[in-house]
Amino acid sequence: MIKTRHLLDLDDADRPFIEALIARARQFKQGIPNEGSRLRGRVVLGMFFETSTRTTTSFAVAAQRLGAAWINFRTDGSSLSKGESLEDTMHTVQAIGADAIVVRHPEAGFPQALARHFDGAILNAGDGAHAHPTQGLLDAMTLLEEFGDLTGRRLVICGDIRHSRVARSSARAAWLLGAAVTLCGPPSLLPPSEPGWGFAQLSSDFDAVLSAADALMLLRVQKERALGDDLPPYEDLAKWYGLTQARASMLAPHCIIMHPGPVNRDIEVEGQLMRNERSRIDRQVENGVYVRMAVLERTLGQASRERAA
Ligand code: CP
Repeated sequence: MIKTRHLLDLDDADRPFIEALIARARQFKQGIPNEGSRLRGRVVLGMFFETSTRTTTSFAVAAQRLGAAWINFRTDGSSLSKGESLEDTMHTVQAIGADAIVVRHPEAGFPQALARHFDGAILNAGDGAHAHPTQGLLDAMTLLEEFGDLTGRRLVICGDIRHSRVARSSARAAWLLGAAVTLCGPPSLLPPSEPGWGFAQLSSDFDAVLSAADALMLLRVQKERALGDDLPPYEDLAKWYGLTQARASMLAPHCIIMHPGPVNRDIEVEGQLMRNERSRIDRQVENGVYVRMAVLERTLGQASRERAA
């Protein structure tokens, strides 16, 4: 079980670590007494250098439900734009009393850089194409709620895998819990073979892998991270890798549909399938609040223990 005050990725996570966080998230979901006093007096800073709806809002709700103050650090209006260094900015927010920073940044490794200059907890809310650990955890929670045990279950993730931090974190979390994972997309959007991706099967034939899925996760093209890459036309993606009504009829009866959002309707998934009986897209968002409560409680607790030691 890893013990750290940060949550930077799931690369070193093990099964007990993921199971413990999800078990705690489920307790929060069922309701625990005095949740609002768990982090009373703590200050959590949201530092989003990229847009976000789900992650920033659910982290804010999670912090506030635990009694912590949530402060939005205005990345476009901060003194970073006047030339203040990252190191000095970190010292400044620490002096102001921030206990944790939730950070999203287009550069892979940015949260690790922050962690070198900050005594509190750093929580990665997405860094480039590297990691989105709380998304991985909330997806694993959603899968566990559905199936109880992931042993022998197959998660198919289809779309732009190469530029997706979600694919990396969600595939890894599901795999650590026992699921088999297939990553599917056009060859140009599949990951290069590298350490960390070796556990998943790769396929470019969506129709061939559909029927074996217990859970199917669709991903949008991350065009903001694909600069300079040759992307297939959206019509081709919708035609060969989009979840249409026709393809949905090929799914196993129990197969659920997931998407981390934001969805480009009628490209990766037909609009009518977004909220049908198979869809767990809103459940993923809901579970995000509870997972983030569990993560905040754990990392801030560890930061306090390290300070006291
Ligand atoms: N899934 C996800 O990260 O969504 P947002 O970009 O809206 O935070």
